[in-house]
Amino acid sequence: QVAAASGHTVVLVDQSDEILKKSAKGIEESLKRVAKKKFADKPEAGVEFIEKTLKNLTTSTDAVAVVHSTDLVIEAIVENQEIKKELFKRLDKFAPEHTIFASNTSSLQITELANSTTRQDRFGGLHFFNPVPMMKLVEVIKTPMTSQKTFESLVDFSKAVGKSPVSCKDTPGFIVNRLLVPYMMEAVRLFERGDASKEDIDVAMKLGAGYPMGPFELLDYVGLDTSKYIIDGWHSLEPNNPLFAPSPLLNKLVEEKKLGKKTGEGFYKYK
Ligand code: 3HC
Repeated sequence: QVAAASGHTVVLVDQSDEILKKSAKGIEESLKRVAKKKFADKPEAGVEFIEKTLKNLTTSTDAVAVVHSTDLVIEAIVENQEIKKELFKRLDKFAPEHTIFASNTSSLQITELANSTTRQDRFGGLHFFNPVPMMKLVEVIKTPMTSQKTFESLVDFSKAVGKSPVSCKDTPGFIVNRLLVPYMMEAVRLFERGDASKEDIDVAMKLGAGYPMGPFELLDYVGLDTSKYIIDGWHSLEPNNPLFAPSPLLNKLVEEKKLGKKTGEGFYKYK
C-alpha cells in the first residue's frame, strides 16, 4: 500500500485469490482513512489519490511468474525460517541479476535467509511496523555480506515510501522488537502471576507511560501467533535468557486459535 501510494509499481503476491481479495479490501479501507486525513479539505483529490494508488497495484498467486520483472522483493510471509528460505531459494532462480531481496522478518536472522540464495550481497532486511501506513519507522538491516550499494538502495527506498529509516546489525529483534517483545512478555508474566489484571496493566502503560496501546492491546493487534513465533525462536537460540522464556498463557491462546484482533479474540474479544 505505501509503496503503491508513493508511485511504485507493486505486485502483491499471496497464496490464494481469496486472501488477495481480503487484502485488496483492507488496502482500500486503509487508503480511505489516509485520504480522509491527507485531503481533508479536498475530497476529490482524495478519490484521485485512491484511484491512482490502486492503479499501481496488481495481485498474483504466482511469485515465480512475476519476479522476473521485479527490482525489489519484500517478503512478509509466515515467521518460519525454513518456509522463508524455501521461498527465497525458489525466487532466486527466476529473479533478474540486479533484483534486491529483502525480508520483513520480525525476529529471524537475515544472514541465514540470505544464505539460501546466491545473491547474499543483494539481500537485506526491511522491517516495517503495524499499522504500516501510520508508523513512520523502517529498520534497514545490513548483514556482513550486504553490499553498501544494496544497503543504500534499501535506505533510499524506505525514504521514497515516506518512512524514516534506522539501521541495525543482524541481531535478534533488531532495535524495536528486542525492546518491545520482552516488555510485552513481561506484561503477560505479570498477569499470569496474578499481580494485576490485563485491563489495569493496559491502562497503566497508556496513562503512566504514554504508550498509545497497552501491552495486551498491542499483542492482540500484532497477532498472538506472530508474538509466539518470535519468542519461541529466541528461546531456542538462548534457552537460559529469562526475557525470552515462553508463556504458558500465550501458548494456550494460540493453541485455541485465539490469535488476537484478526480472529476476533485474543486476550480480549472483538466484534
Ligand atoms: N491505515 C490507515 N490509517 C490508519 C490505520 C490503518 N491501518 N490505522 C489507524 N489509522 C489512522 C486512523 O485513520 C486515525 O486517523 P485520524 O487521527 O485522522 O482519525 C489515526 O490512525 C488514529 O487511529 P485511531 O483513532 O483508530 O486509534 P489510535 O489513536 O489508537 O491510533 C494506532 C491507532 C496508530 C495504531 C496507535 O494506537 C498506535 O500507534 N499504536 C501502537 C502501534 C505499535 O506499537 N506498533 C508497533 C507494533 S510492533 C510491530 O509492528 C513489529 C512486528 O514485527 C511485530
